[in-house]
Amino acid sequence: MRLAVIPGDGIGPEVVSEALKVLGEVAPAAEITNYDLGASRWHATGELLPESVLGELRQHDAILLGAVGDPTVPSGILERGLLLRLRFELDHHVNLRPARLYPGVRGPLADAGDVDMVVVREGTEGPYAGNGGLLRKDTEHEIATEVSVNTAFGVRRVVADAFNRAEERPRKHLTLVHKTNVLEHAGSLWSRIVEEVSLEHPDVTVAYSHVDAATIHLVTDPSRFDVMVTDNLFGDIITDLAAAVTGGIGLAASGNLDITRRNPSMFEPVHGSAPDIAGQGLADPTAAVLSVSLLLDHLGHKEAARRIEASVAFDLATRDQSSPGATQAIGDRLAALV
Ligand code: NAI
Ligand code: MG
Repeated sequence: MRLAVIPGDGIGPEVVSEALKVLGEVAPAAEITNYDLGASRWHATGELLPESVLGELRQHDAILLGAVGDPTVPSGILERGLLLRLRFELDHHVNLRPARLYPGVRGPLADAGDVDMVVVREGTEGPYAGNGGLLRKDTEHEIATEVSVNTAFGVRRVVADAFNRAEERPRKHLTLVHKTNVLEHAGSLWSRIVEEVSLEHPDVTVAYSHVDAATIHLVTDPSRFDVMVTDNLFGDIITDLAAAVTGGIGLAASGNLDITRRNPSMFEPVHGSAPDIAGQGLADPTAAVLSVSLLLDHLGHKEAARRIEASVAFDLATRDQSSPGATQAIGDRLAALV
C-alpha cells in the first residue's frame, strides 16, 4: 500500500500523526510519503499544487490529508488552488460522509434515536463546477452567474454508487435529496436517474426529500435516514448538519472518491486546521483515525477498516466525555485497542 500523506497546517500534522500511529497497527508495511502542501508552503514559495507534485500524488494508492488553512491566507486561495483542484484533477466525484451517533457520545439532540447514515454527495458538478462569471463588474448593471452543471453521466455514477452502498447496508434504504419542485430541470434529471438505477436494486427502498425538509428531519428524526444521495451544494450543507447532530467536528470523517480507481482517492477529517487550538495537543484525532478506516475500506482492507471503527466505537463508549484526553493520549488508546 503506497500512501501519500498531506499533513497540512495547524492541527493537521497533529491529528495525522495519531492516525498514522493507528494505521501502523493494522498495516505496518504501508509505504508512506509526506507532501508539504498548504498555507506554510504557499507562504514560503507561493506554490499551491505544483504539476510535479500532482504527478507524484497520482502514483499512490490513496491520499490522507490533515487540514490546510491559516488566517494569514486570503479566503479562497487554498480552497480553489489546492483542495478543489485536487478534487477536479483526480476526479473525486463521490464525496462520502458517514454520520453515526456512537453509543456514549452526547450530541446536541435530546432524543436522537439510532443515527447511522451515510451521505453520498456529488463532488465535481452542480454549482461548484466553476461555470459562471461576472459581466459589467463594479457597475450598477453587474451580472453574476454561477450555473449548476448536472450531466447524466455525472449523476448516474454517483447515484449508482449510492445504491451499491445501500445494498450493502442492513436497512437498504436510499433517500434522494433535492429541490425538484423549484429546480425543475436538474431535479428532473436526478429523479429520472434514481428511478432508472433503482430498477437494478429491487431490494433497496427509495424515498425522496426536498432539501429544506431534509434539514428539519435531520434535527427532528435523523434516524429515518440510511443512505442519502444529493448534489454538490445540497450535500455540502446537509453533511455539516449531519456531522453536527452526530457529535460534531472532532468525529466527522470523509472520503473524496474516484470510484473508477483510475486516480487515488483522498481521505480527510471534515474539520479544518483549527488555528485556535493548534500546537497545544488539544485536537481530537478521532476524525482523522476514522478517515483512515474509510481509506482502508476503499482499498479493500475491510477487516482492518472494521477493526479501527470498532476501536473508535469502544473508546467513545468508555471515554470520559467531559475530558476526552489530549491528542496523543487518544491516539495511543486507539492504537492499543486496534
Ligand atoms: P475548523 O474546523 O478548523 O475549526 C472550527 C472549530 O472546531 C474551532 O473552534 C476548532 O478549535 C474546533 N475543532 C476543529 N477540529 C477539531 C478537533 N479535531 N478537535 C477539537 N476541536 C476541533 O474550522 P475554521 O475555524 O472555520 O477554519 C480554520 C482553517 O481551516 C481555515 O483556514 C479554513 O479555511 C481551514 N479549513 C480547511 C479544511 C480542509 O483542509 N479540508 C476544511 C475546513 C476549514
Ligand atoms: Mg463544508
